[in-house]
Amino acid sequence: MINRPRRLRENPLIRGMVRETRASKDSLIYPIFFEEGKDIKAPISAMDGQFRYSPDRAKEIIDQCLAHGVSKVLLFGIPKEKDEMGSQAYAENGIVQQAVRAIKEEYKEQIYVITDVCMCEYTSHGHCGILCGHDVDNDQTLEYLSATAVSHAAAGADMVAPSDMMDGRIAALRAGLDENGFKNTPIMSYAIKYASKFYGPFREAAGSAPSFGDRKTYQMDPHNVREAMKEAALDEAEGADILMVKPALSYLDIIKELSYNTNLPIATYSVSGEYAMIKNAGKAGLVDEYGIMCETATSMYRAGSDIIMTYYAMEIADAIQRGD
Ligand code: PBG
Ligand code: ZN
Repeated sequence: MINRPRRLRENPLIRGMVRETRASKDSLIYPIFFEEGKDIKAPISAMDGQFRYSPDRAKEIIDQCLAHGVSKVLLFGIPKEKDEMGSQAYAENGIVQQAVRAIKEEYKEQIYVITDVCMCEYTSHGHCGILCGHDVDNDQTLEYLSATAVSHAAAGADMVAPSDMMDGRIAALRAGLDENGFKNTPIMSYAIKYASKFYGPFREAAGSAPSFGDRKTYQMDPHNVREAMKEAALDEAEGADILMVKPALSYLDIIKELSYNTNLPIATYSVSGEYAMIKNAGKAGLVDEYGIMCETATSMYRAGSDIIMTYYAMEIADAIQRGD
């Protein structure tokens, strides 16, 4: 036998030398939920280990992130009042705007703040845009998304991340940001976002489930690959700076395919349902939570993701430190 692959697996040193996928803490983003009020740290029952914070307690969670070497966060807001037009999404003193200001005042450039731009947490009907009858009015929604992104940037957000899946939103956000003096604020597009059951726990956490129907007229059909490349190409042409694939685990092939089709950085969002499955299977003693967390994160990097958004960001940062 001439070829013996096991020669390169003999011990940890040689295995470390030939390792093909190397992750860095720099690539991790931690999602945080903020709700209005004071002195709140409320456990999210659907996502064990995750909490909703009021802006005055932002310091607690940001300090934790920094202690683990996680220096990027993605903010979501849960407003007190919802209405037809989702007006708290673009209100100057909306919940995300408050949270961004609180974090930026304290930490300045120490932490990179990205905001999710969408309307579903803010509309009384729970859809990601303005309704016209029973469907979301694409073109009207663009104005509101653009206003939301501008208000986030004005509050101090370093980057905006639209997750609504309306057509033309990247161009609309880019124009709005540029016109308002934010030409250097990057856009990370949820370019390839599938209509997925994996968002279940998030919708419970954010109270953002649609009150009727589903999101299939705007989010993508999980059966499609070419359409994903079309979405990515459109967003790139409209000025997206980073492209995201979401969810992660059931869509590793899409990450790989995208890596052949773009020169932009690729991000993937390992969503709430992925987190909840691993967490609960671990708690039930069915799987090794830590091992599965490491293995699944590795699979996302291996598929071609440069950046990973995950509720396990801090634990993965520790795992990277350990060389796992
Ligand atoms: C808002 C949004 C959602 C997620 C990120 N932004 C929910 C949805 O589209 O219904 C999901 C994140 C997760 O499940 O962790 N549009
Ligand atoms: Zn939405």
